[in-house]
Order: sequence, then C-alpha cells, then structure tokens
Amino acid sequence: MSENFAAFLYLVSGVLFILALRGLSHPTTSRQGNMFGMVGMGLAIVTTLLLARPSFGGLLIIVIGMAIGGGAGAYIARKIAMTAMPQLVAAFHSLVGLAAVAVAAAALYAPESIGIGTVGHIHAQALVEMSIGVAIGAITFTGSIIAFLKLDGRMSGKPILLPSRHIINIALGVALLLLVIGFATTQSHLMFWLIVVVALALGVLLIVPIGGADMPVVVSMLNSYSGWAAAGIGFTLQNLALIITGALVGSSGAILSYIMCKGMNRSFISVILGGFGGDAGPAGGADLGERTVKQGSADDAAYLMKNAARVIIVPGYGMAVAQAQHALREMADVLKKEGVEVKYAIHPVAGRMPGHMNVLLAEANVPYDEVFELEDINSEFAQTDVAFVIGANDVTNPAARDDPSSPIFGMPILNVDQARTCLFIKRSLGSGYAGIDNTLFYKDNTMMLFGDAKKMVDDIVKAMAH
Ligand code: TAP
Repeated sequence: MSENFAAFLYLVSGVLFILALRGLSHPTTSRQGNMFGMVGMGLAIVTTLLLARPSFGGLLIIVIGMAIGGGAGAYIARKIAMTAMPQLVAAFHSLVGLAAVAVAAAALYAPESIGIGTVGHIHAQALVEMSIGVAIGAITFTGSIIAFLKLDGRMSGKPILLPSRHIINIALGVALLLLVIGFATTQSHLMFWLIVVVALALGVLLIVPIGGADMPVVVSMLNSYSGWAAAGIGFTLQNLALIITGALVGSSGAILSYIMCKGMNRSFISVILGGFGGDAGPAGGADLGERTVKQGSADDAAYLMKNAARVIIVPGYGMAVAQAQHALREMADVLKKEGVEVKYAIHPVAGRMPGHMNVLLAEANVPYDEVFELEDINSEFAQTDVAFVIGANDVTNPAARDDPSSPIFGMPILNVDQARTCLFIKRSLGSGYAGIDNTLFYKDNTMMLFGDAKKMVDDIVKAMAH
C-alpha cells in the first residue's frame, strides 16, 4: 500500500474517532458512537498491517498478541461491574503508559526499522519525541497503578502526605528535564533508562498524596497523559493514526478533568497538589450528637408520593451499588399512572464517573425527556412536593452551599432541601465519597428511609399497590 493511501485511511479513521466521541456525548447516540470507534480502530489496525507488511513470523506474533489482548479485553468488559469502571479505566491506562515505554525502547534499539537513523545516530527530533513519550508513559504507568489500587480498595483511599513531598517532586521533575536534555544530546542508553526510573518514581509520588474524592479526576488526567504519550510516540513512529488518536485522547481527557473539577468546585492545581478527601466507600455512622433524624418506612414514602403533584428523583452512587434503577423506573411508572409528575435530576459528578447515572437510567429505559441536568432543574425543587434522593449524598449536601468551612464549599448541589419533603434512601447516617457529614439528614423536612436502595424501592412499589 502506498504511503499516501495509508495516510488517507488514517485520516478516515481519525474522522471516525471524532464521530465516536461525538456519538458518546449523548445516550441516544452512544451505541452508534461506539460503532464508529470500533470501525475506526479496525481500519487503523488493518492499514498499519498493510503498510508495514510484516513477515509471516512477525504477523503470527501480532495476531497472537491481538488475540490474547483482545480476548482479555472482551472478557473483562463483559464481567466488569459498572461501579468498578474507574479502576478498570485506570488499569487500562497503565498499559498504555507501559506500551509507550516499550515502543520508545524498541525505537532506541532498532531505529533503522522505522527510519529514524541508526543506533547512536538517531535524528535529533526523534530523540526529543522519544524521551518525552517515554517520560510521560512511565509516569502514566505507575500513576495509573496507584490510582487502580486506591480505587479498588487495595490501598487506602486516604491521601498519603509524605514530608517534603513537593520538594522531592520538584527535584525529580528537574532531574527528569536534565536527563531528557542529556539523552537528546548524547543518545546514552543509560540516560534513557534513568529517565524511565525517575519517571516511574514520579508517577507513584504524584498520585499517592491524592485523596479519595479526587481520584476520578486523577484517572481522567492520567487518561489525558496516556494520550499525549501515545501522540509523542506517534511522531517517533511517524504514524498519523497514533498522533491523531493520542491528541484526541489527550485533549478529551484534559477537558473531562476540567469539567469534573468545575462540578466539584476544585481547582485543577489543588487536585494535583493532593491532600483532600477520605477513604472511598461507605464510611461509618456519623456522630449524631444531640441531633435527631426523622425515620420513615416504605409505607410512609408510598403515601407521601402518591399524594404528591410533583416528585423529583435524585439518583447517586448508592443506586448504582444497589442496581436499583429498574425498580426505580417501575416506581416512577406507578406514580405517573397515579397522575404524579416525575422528573429525574442528575448532578454532574453523581456516582463515580461522568454520565454514570445517565447510563444506568438509560439501561432501565427511563425516557430521556424526564432526565434533567442540575442547572435545568435546580430552580424547580422549591415548587416540588417530594425530592426522592436514592443513594446520593455529597451532591445534595447543603454545607457545599452554606458552610464556608466545609471542604466541599462552593460545589454546586441539587437543592433537594427546598422541596416540601425530602425522602432520603441510604443504609446508615454514614458519609459519602468526600467523607463528610450531611446536615440534610437532620432537617425537619427530611425523612430518612434506611435500607438497601433496591429493597426499599421494591417495598415502596408494593406499598403503593395497597
Ligand atoms: P456519595 O456522596 O458517594 O454517597 C453515596 C451514598 O450511597 C453513601 O453515602 C452510601 O450511604 C449510599 N449507599 C451505598 N450503597 C448503598 C446501597 N446499597 N443502598 C442505599 N444506599 C447506598 O454519592 P453521590 O451523591 O453520587 O456523590 C458522588 C461523589 O463522588 C461526590 O463526592 C463526587 O465529588 C465524587 N466524584 C464523582 C465523580 C464523577 S465524575 N461522578 C468524579 C469525582 C468525584 P450508606 O453507606 O449509608 O448506605
């Protein structure tokens, strides 16, 4: 295949990747988006093989590698629980980082195979691209492993604040820069591997101090890094598809990190500097002190909602854990039959990843026109009879609006406390991801419905039938 035709096909696959991203931005078009992505990737792989024309032995190794990798990917994608998606993404990014290191090492030892010179006489431009690609790749590799361990609960989600960590990180960053310059001028193999070692250490040290609530932002940031590493290596390999894909991943990851930071009112710099957030997962019971909570039953909830004119449902991480979305839709169907107006309010960082709640509600066939973003529905809570909070916590915490001393102060919240009654399903008075108490539990117009989200909604549906 001619290089020009290959470049054209790579361009087509790039366009397909852009269409994939566009499709994935809305639940109605997301399947189509996925399809564009798959076709684009298939086209890029076939073009690369036709262009490289590997020997039979080489082709065999590639096919075996693809079968093992593709088989493992398909198996994991089928098995993985939706709630474990962030750690899966982190684990996959670590492989992208490792691949960038491996490709750069291969280019160093066999530069003639990709036309960037000979050993010891590699073109200057390729040396710079390789060293940047390998440095970002190695940081992404260890950083993503730490993110995986934290998100998967194999390591404490709490920030680990080493003394003088900023000074150590700056020193390592400066050392990395000097090594990159040294390698680009001397082509020393030792310097190449020293870049790898320093970058691996930096990856660990950068991510270890970052706490639970910031981890999803970090995953998206590492996603962005892995894209830039791939783009850097794409320049070395002079592979247009890798450059386009790397740049798309790099920029979309950066945009996503920005959107998440905005949703949590955190500055990107303070996320990187770390130190915020508690352990992931349900925390222990909050200290009740003198405060009392009003506790209700499924019957109470059924009665209140059947007699309401308008109910707004606010789903959160707990709904995902309990897989309560189908039961929830059933409940909404009963209410609609009774003439109650039902809407869903989605906070931009509800759950554990962007679009988490939208995907679950779409899975349960909740009509898209009943689902509203925070800014479109927040003003309606004040005219709503019942706000039905199911497994959400931080995204409803009034402290974010009213208490300047709260770590989440400034984060936009859903104003569920302004509804006439706020029904709150969760298993305990434990905190959410940010590890802080929620004053909403103790308000006069809040009724706590303690229990597993799915079981409680099933009970409410049964109670509504009476
Ligand atoms: P959270 O504040 O994490 O609260 C979830 C609540 O669900 C917990 O308090 C837990 O209370 C309850 N729960 C857990 N399992 C349950 C079950 N089986 N049945 C009923 N309840 C259950 O959730 P949220 O309001 O969705 O907020 C998301 C958090 O993640 C925010 O802090 C956000 O900043 C952070 N975050 C999200 C993202 C994205 S992109 N979504 C990114 C970064 C950070 P009990 O233990 O008492 O049941």
